[in-house]
Amino acid sequence: MNKIINQILGLGVGVVLACGCGTTPSETQTETAASHTFQIDASKTIAKVEPTMYGIFFEDINFAIDGGLYAELVKNRSFEFDKPLRGWTELKDKGLGVRFLPINTNNPRNTRFMRVQIEDQGSGAGLLNEGFRGMGLKEGLPHNFSIQVRGGDGKVSAIRIELLDSKGEVIANSRVDGINNEWQTLTTSLTPSKTDAKGTMKIWFEGEGTVDIDMVSLFPTDTWKGRKNGLRADLVQLLADMDPGFLRFPGGCIVEGFDLSQRYQWKNTVGDVDERVVTINRWNFEFDHRPAPDYYQSFGVGFYEYFLLAEDLEAEPVPILNCGMACQFNTGELVPLDQLDPYIQDALDLIEFANGSTDSKWGKLRADMGHPEPFNLKMLGVGNEQWGPQYVERYVPIVNAVKAKYPEIQIIAATGSDGSIFPNGEEEIEYLWKEWKRLKPEIVDEHFYRNPDWFMKNADWYDNYERTGSKLFVGEWAAQSVGVASPDNKNNWETALSEAAFLTGLERNADLVTMTSYAPLFAHAEGWQWTPDLIWFDNLDSYGTANYYVQKMYATNPGTHVIPLEKDGKPVTGQNGLYATATRDENAGELIIKIVNTGEAAVEASFDVAGATIGTEVTAEVLSSKELEAVNTLDEGNKISPRTEKKTLDSEKLSYQLEPYSFTVLRVEAK
Ligand code: AHR
Repeated sequence: MNKIINQILGLGVGVVLACGCGTTPSETQTETAASHTFQIDASKTIAKVEPTMYGIFFEDINFAIDGGLYAELVKNRSFEFDKPLRGWTELKDKGLGVRFLPINTNNPRNTRFMRVQIEDQGSGAGLLNEGFRGMGLKEGLPHNFSIQVRGGDGKVSAIRIELLDSKGEVIANSRVDGINNEWQTLTTSLTPSKTDAKGTMKIWFEGEGTVDIDMVSLFPTDTWKGRKNGLRADLVQLLADMDPGFLRFPGGCIVEGFDLSQRYQWKNTVGDVDERVVTINRWNFEFDHRPAPDYYQSFGVGFYEYFLLAEDLEAEPVPILNCGMACQFNTGELVPLDQLDPYIQDALDLIEFANGSTDSKWGKLRADMGHPEPFNLKMLGVGNEQWGPQYVERYVPIVNAVKAKYPEIQIIAATGSDGSIFPNGEEEIEYLWKEWKRLKPEIVDEHFYRNPDWFMKNADWYDNYERTGSKLFVGEWAAQSVGVASPDNKNNWETALSEAAFLTGLERNADLVTMTSYAPLFAHAEGWQWTPDLIWFDNLDSYGTANYYVQKMYATNPGTHVIPLEKDGKPVTGQNGLYATATRDENAGELIIKIVNTGEAAVEASFDVAGATIGTEVTAEVLSSKELEAVNTLDEGNKISPRTEKKTLDSEKLSYQLEPYSFTVLRVEAK
């Protein structure tokens, strides 16, 4: 992807901007509030809105997991990064008195530990861990420290632990002792006297001799659901607040790997955490302009944790598996067809892991990990952004094997990437669609990384799309303010507004589009590779972007059935800078209208509602900003965020004044 995107960036950004990014549809706008009347027929149904409609695309990019969602504060805790002491600094006097020796094991799932040899303590022998651009330490909160340790010759009998603030002052300390000649895990708790986003941790070895250490770990205790060594609660809460219909994981290109050796192998990510195979993150070196040599996957969040997260969020789990192809933006390495069996077996075993009885091999592992009940997996993606006949050749045997054993599993097939960013993209997509018409996957995944203008101009993209039988998963999309994955992209209000407009088209076509998700999801404010992203965070705080609130407003107001909303007999797809869609919510007995005003003037919107009697109390959720360039930030996380207001109608007509540059969700009782 790097090459292609760099080409695009190199060509400039102009290629994308030429489409008109930065402008707002305003052909027919006036400076005073215009009035527009729309017709709604609440008795007619265009489509059922599937509970999966609005979901989450999760990929470990931008330090989304290690350094992000996974609350572990120690980086390279098992010394298995390329450089065994990456993330660590040796603490010792100059000289030969103290040595740190990375020892290879014979265990491919736990390849190294660190031997510390202390002949002369000097002024002290220890290691400092820098965390993920620092450690977020919280005043008054117990933090759980643990270390695997085995003593050797001599008398290293205890380890002293210090937590330090960004100035290097000790803000908590503790000690573990009882080291003997067997591997054991020693634990203690430390409670910092101060909050600091840029803390560090030192461990000091007491005595002289040899000691082996591994899995040096520090977790805050305020994790999601208070689970030990779990997830950052603020980040999961932002996801939960979206009420997502599905959780797609683990990506994204990370599924594919730069080459096949780096592909995501789910079996390496389950079981005991110290037996999960630390693997380089493919975003470590993807972008020359955002190198991240310290980006690895500890798999503290692996497939079990993803399933558990989906369950917590009451979202359908949607795993995507490698299909024997490395990322086609990178090596495009292929597994020979006669060596595809392990990939097929991975798919079959994954279904057994998720759904199988606890008597089965993989179902038993799930139970041993703490979840005897099945995860009720229904969908499986085969390949991420693959294309070409080589994809189809690999897709077919994998899917045949899955369907033979598990006919109920719905298959998600890819259509490559955004057609504008991969070689012969549009032709490749056309080729794949011919194949999908023949092979009939239940769901086909399409991606769009375009400028805001494109999203606004294409709110009718799916209105006349061929209905082939496969449902559509608009699985990765986001408006790019400058260019595809440009480091200058911003999550500004213009991009969010254009996404709100595009989403009216997805919802209107809910008979075809049954799943949609923004991508990427998370970004560490200092550790990101790709922007824009839905949610940003540092080591302590987090915020949803304007784009997040757009997704959230759709996801929390889906309704159950799409109904016609028209102006002059046509869907509202940008006329007068307006975009709109309507649903009925049969559970709440309400009519829901989503309407986007991309113009710089207020609009008086009125709705003639046939087929239902409307209540007099309207609830409006309004997201707006006067500035298209405005963004939320860590300091002003709610600058662009929805406000809710109630209005009592003074006539039987449903009407509402739309603010300039606004996205509004109206809910009103409908009988
Ligand atoms: O969302 C970022 C990347 O964009 C994903 O990893 C990949 O699938 C797409 O090209």
